[in-house]
Amino acid sequence: MIVSPKTMLQRARRGGYAVGAFNVNNLEILQGVVEAAMQMRSPLIVQTSQGAIEYAGMELLAAMVHTIARDTDIPIALHLDHGTDVALVMEAIDSGLYTSVMIDTSRFPLQDNIRITREVVKRAHARKIFVEAELGAIPGKEDQVDVMEADAFMTRPEEATRFVKETDCDALAVSIGTKHGVSKFASVHARLDIERLRAIASAVNKPLVLHGASSVYRNLKDVAEAYGADLSKAFGVPDGQLKKAIKNGIAKINTDSDIRIAFTGAVDQYMTRHPNNMDPRAYLGAGRDAVRRTVIRKMKLFGSEGMI
Ligand code: G3H
Ligand code: 13P
Ligand code: ZN
Repeated sequence: MIVSPKTMLQRARRGGYAVGAFNVNNLEILQGVVEAAMQMRSPLIVQTSQGAIEYAGMELLAAMVHTIARDTDIPIALHLDHGTDVALVMEAIDSGLYTSVMIDTSRFPLQDNIRITREVVKRAHARKIFVEAELGAIPGKEDQVDVMEADAFMTRPEEATRFVKETDCDALAVSIGTKHGVSKFASVHARLDIERLRAIASAVNKPLVLHGASSVYRNLKDVAEAYGADLSKAFGVPDGQLKKAIKNGIAKINTDSDIRIAFTGAVDQYMTRHPNNMDPRAYLGAGRDAVRRTVIRKMKLFGSEGMI
């Protein structure tokens, strides 16, 4: 069933676990993610980025999510990820399709970030839609920010108090040392600023969100070789760091890159093994299975198994 993420995230924060928010771009990824939640009896947040909407269309993506959610008792929230385009965020709110949106104006000065976020919150709350906002920049991908240790880009606890009070947002995405994307770490693991997280969590009585949380293999070749095998070889955000983050206030964890890697690695491996099979259901089905296995592993790690 489709639900608001409000109760699931409040329960997660109180219960010391996190709900996974997984990016979907097509049918098979969505099926893999939902199958994992059903197997784990875990609450689930399905999210679509602006890029996913550009690729597949808001209505089509949302229709798939609503249809698959209708046939299960697992609570599923549908969330717009990284709404940097205010018009699109408003469209998602007005469509009535999303139970949650992220307004991401973190690239603007604090005052502007507060002003735009507050406008979105007003419109969303009038329709009982949950709003995640971001304070501090999370580097990676298209961002110009390379120096991930730079304190300057991280969320400041004292600003977080003001931001949440003035915007009335429902959840806050924080920058504490993670990065977005597949190629975020060439050869080192992330080290999260847990002290900073702890300070934000005690200043802000809202669920906190960790973006850029994928473990990430070094490259797709490694994935093809390691596929289904030793996941501890991953570079990125180590499991132990994620556990610490959950213990210290993170209630929603965003994962996209690990899903892409699992899906692509499995399709690649399938085609290598069956070069003459041109049936898309065969190789996309292999991708779907890999997504399910990856998400199951994440849900166990996040502690959301059995939490519906
Ligand atoms: O954090 C961003 C997500 O990984 C979405 O990426 O804009 O390529 O869909 P995308
Ligand atoms: P990763 O690139 O680490 O999967 O992060 C995804 C994310 O933060 C989506 O909002
Ligand atoms: Zn993100």
